[in-house]
Amino acid sequence: MDTDQQEVEKPTEDHVKTFANDVNEGLSQTPKKMNSKYFYDKKGDELFQSIMRMDEYYLTSAEFEILSLQKEKIAQAINYEKGHFQLIEFGAGDGYKTKILLSYLLEMGADFEYIPIDISENVLSQLVTGLEAEMPELKVNPIQKDYFKALEDLKSNDQRKVVLFLGSNIGNFTPENAPIFLSQIAERLNPEDSLLMGVDLKKDPHVILAAYNDQHGITKAFNFNLLNRINEELGGDFDIFNFEHFPVYDPVSGATKSYLISKREQTVSIGELDKQFYFDQGEPIFMEISQKYSTKEIEQLAAKSGFEVVNHYYDCKHYFTDTLWRIKP
Ligand code: AVI
Repeated sequence: MDTDQQEVEKPTEDHVKTFANDVNEGLSQTPKKMNSKYFYDKKGDELFQSIMRMDEYYLTSAEFEILSLQKEKIAQAINYEKGHFQLIEFGAGDGYKTKILLSYLLEMGADFEYIPIDISENVLSQLVTGLEAEMPELKVNPIQKDYFKALEDLKSNDQRKVVLFLGSNIGNFTPENAPIFLSQIAERLNPEDSLLMGVDLKKDPHVILAAYNDQHGITKAFNFNLLNRINEELGGDFDIFNFEHFPVYDPVSGATKSYLISKREQTVSIGELDKQFYFDQGEPIFMEISQKYSTKEIEQLAAKSGFEVVNHYYDCKHYFTDTLWRIKP
């Protein structure tokens, strides 16, 4: 495996400052909010992996089914036979689903290098180690950056590109920001390139809500972990028992929003900021959006972002789709 371009950023003073600034900015707004990219420290990665294994979190099994049953069609549609390409994955995570496509492409003798991008150093190094053992012939060049910094690396070059953005990661952008990010990808692609994106579909609201409010409280722990992270890394004194986890789903807009609600009037100090934040009883912190789309909305999103839809691949329940796009000529 070729990992010579691996870029792994170590936590530095700069990272702490950026984290502190983002927390300060979010908690100074009304309503208070957090940036959900900070969910993913070591503990957060573990909790998210547990979420993906939960029965209620249908997204992972639905996408696994799509890739397992339709990998031949997808591989054909991305023109794997037409010579060398870079397979670039935003938010690669543990690669659980991507491995289906990777092993199929290797089996078919496709000529490609895999470039997984993830903000989490921990999850990325686990992925690389796993791939080294499972697919030693695979060329892997991981990049540890957030999406926006990684976009800068996606400069136009002569290599054909297939961009993967699986797992409904696009859902963590607001509907206003999603086309902005996707347009930035489109600007860096050529007509022969493609984007395969996993999108969670609008469906029975009970099914959606259960995925974000599981009976074992794993999603709750995932949200609380960010408060613990602020306590540990920024010298905060959040008491998680003073907050309640409260996800909501709006079937009209398709927004699933997770909040932590202050159970009482309280003041939280953050040492690194040398600042206190006042919470009213019942006051929410907006933690994360997990946007759901209809097929029609996905097509509108493609058009707005400079793409056209090649095909939508669905699971048997039509809970989820992997949608394949090319740039609009
Ligand atoms: C990573 N992302 C697509 C997950 C989602 O469904 O929005 C994060 C998550 N949050 C709570 N459960 C899972």
